[in-house]
Amino acid sequence: MKIFPQLPGLVHGGDYNPDQWLDRPDILEKDIEYFKEAGINCVTLGVFAWAAEEPTEDDFQLDWLAQIMDRLYQNGIYIILATPTGARPAWLDEKYPEAMRCDERGVRNHHGLRHNHCMSSPAFRDRVRAIDTALAERFADHPGLLMWHISNELGGYCYCEHCKYAWQEWLRGRYHDDIEELNKAWWTGFWSHRFNDFSQIEPPYANGETALLGMNVDWRRFETFLATDFMRFEIDTLHAVKPDVPVTTNFMELFYDYDYNYMKEFVDYISWDNYPEMHRTEVSDSRTMIERSFMHSMFRSMKPDRPFMMMESAPGLVNWKPYNKYRRPGVHELISMQAVADGSDTVQYFQLRKSRGASEQWHGAVIDHIGTDDTRIFKEVAKTGADLAAIAEVTGSVAKNEAAILYDWDNRWALDDAQMLSNETKNFDETCTNIYEEFMRLGVCPNIISSDADWSHYRIICAPMLYLLHDGIGRKIADFVKNGGQFLATYCMGYVDKTTLANLGGFPGQGLSEVFGLKSEEIDTLYPEDNVNLRLSDQPLKPTDAGKPEWSSSAEPISCFDLTKVTGKSVAVHDYEELLRDVTADVLAIYENDYMAGTPAITRNAYGKGCAWYVAARVDQDDIRPIYEEMLDNAGIDHTLLPEGLEKTSRYSDNVRYDFYLNCTAEPLTVENVSGTALLGPAAEGGRLTLPPYGVAVFKIGVRNSV
Ligand code: GLA
Ligand code: ZN
Repeated sequence: MKIFPQLPGLVHGGDYNPDQWLDRPDILEKDIEYFKEAGINCVTLGVFAWAAEEPTEDDFQLDWLAQIMDRLYQNGIYIILATPTGARPAWLDEKYPEAMRCDERGVRNHHGLRHNHCMSSPAFRDRVRAIDTALAERFADHPGLLMWHISNELGGYCYCEHCKYAWQEWLRGRYHDDIEELNKAWWTGFWSHRFNDFSQIEPPYANGETALLGMNVDWRRFETFLATDFMRFEIDTLHAVKPDVPVTTNFMELFYDYDYNYMKEFVDYISWDNYPEMHRTEVSDSRTMIERSFMHSMFRSMKPDRPFMMMESAPGLVNWKPYNKYRRPGVHELISMQAVADGSDTVQYFQLRKSRGASEQWHGAVIDHIGTDDTRIFKEVAKTGADLAAIAEVTGSVAKNEAAILYDWDNRWALDDAQMLSNETKNFDETCTNIYEEFMRLGVCPNIISSDADWSHYRIICAPMLYLLHDGIGRKIADFVKNGGQFLATYCMGYVDKTTLANLGGFPGQGLSEVFGLKSEEIDTLYPEDNVNLRLSDQPLKPTDAGKPEWSSSAEPISCFDLTKVTGKSVAVHDYEELLRDVTADVLAIYENDYMAGTPAITRNAYGKGCAWYVAARVDQDDIRPIYEEMLDNAGIDHTLLPEGLEKTSRYSDNVRYDFYLNCTAEPLTVENVSGTALLGPAAEGGRLTLPPYGVAVFKIGVRNSV
């Protein structure tokens, strides 16, 4: 499925702010020449251009924009047009101070910066409606217009009176206007925090109520709803003038504030901004690239039937990291091609021309202050443009993924907010990425999905630290496994319900103890220097072979194996270990030391036609590789161990598969069993492909019934 039927191939472009250069027509003219030279076929206009578009209230000045759009289009360059609402002109805040956000103590901000409007403010929405309508009336029919880009990087929370009221209304809806239902869900009997009426509920001000964890997670859900409502308001405004122009908004990395799995439904295409921090001393480039691949996969999985867009990335460097280091030669192409390898049909940049002043004047750009095409970065960008043209035929192809990792925003919020474990080591994102990395080492690229997604395409699903269970997830997992799925869960599984109330009767809740054949009784938090190990048993152990642990005289017996009789590889445990009880599953590993010695640490339960796996302790995933291999075998998914630092992913279209190979290291890498015709990069000899440092290759292979 092609995102832009108007364009023959992949999009190469980025944010462009001619509004900052209106007094330099010579520069604007030259820019177009450079764009063409760099193979740039699309620019994003109008991000933050409100003051140029409406210098005073209701005085819409759009001729400059029309002229630039015309000139770009005449030169074969298409346009993504943003609504300018990511930042506000001074006149607006002066006249309508309610547009300015209140901070978490309820104190109103001053005018300035960006991404800081109140999304509930009626006056602000009126002004948004006016500018968006003016833009749509003038440009919705422009032949060069590809898409609307809504605002920019929506984010943050406002604690003003309008927002407080909207919050209370949202709560009334969620709890059926029944304050007792809310009191129960939030466990407000605690510390006498009971409410008599919805009107008493304030936002979780930093100097107010923050102890009700159910409230905290609901607040973030409400903020997601509000941002989505604001985004939909903008979309509806544009579509009231002309329906059917596609829309997107640019998402961010593993952004915390809003649940993108909710927002994703209301845009036509998913786009996101990708800013890897390469060449770190404490993290290898290949790990940095895996983290990025994880994010690409998450955004791809939000609409798995179509390509996504990498809406922003930095030519050369950014200017807002602790150390702003230039990417080494070749790395620009690697980062760009990784997006395509993982399913993006666009390589877009912030920014095409570097601004002369203000806070982003030192941020990387295609065209630098020196103003020439004869720079290292320009040349690397132009090469990327040429290479994207060389693989134009991949446009519209999609990935096919049969393994998935569950990632729910409210699970993340609830887990972080839970006052347990160690705030230093909860590391939910990292834990998910570690599992992703292990699959990628085995040549399998997983999707990253929400627990509410459609699971029918998957044969393996992993649920790292799925602490909070949405309604019905227990049943869904049971059915998935019964019907032949491989489901892997870890410590912290199913502790609470969607309002963060603890599940009663044993974890994992919602009937999952039966699916996994165990219960979790304790979770212990380790100090970094604690020395705990588990032993991967050479033979699966049967719970019937287990004795009672010595210290369990009155409690129900838990499985306890004789350490002297169990042989196998010893593996280090980090951070967390659970004590399991009532185990009926096969035991694949036991703890070796500390007070849980002899009790199960990793289990596998045959359930219906599938298997439910449980990893009760945090370990390095490559230490338990045989478990992944067995799951993949059971699921009938091909796997081969790839060299470390080599990423391989595939995209499919009718009867064709495109294999992408990326060398994410500064050393040459060789990979075997490469087949197909080389579209880009070095050819393979006798199935052997050697990639130079940071090198990329793309191969095309005929396949049957590929989509
Ligand atoms: C974000 C914004 C851009 C710009 C870049 C800088 O992604 O959307 O406007 O500030 O960061 O990296
Ligand atoms: Zn507000």
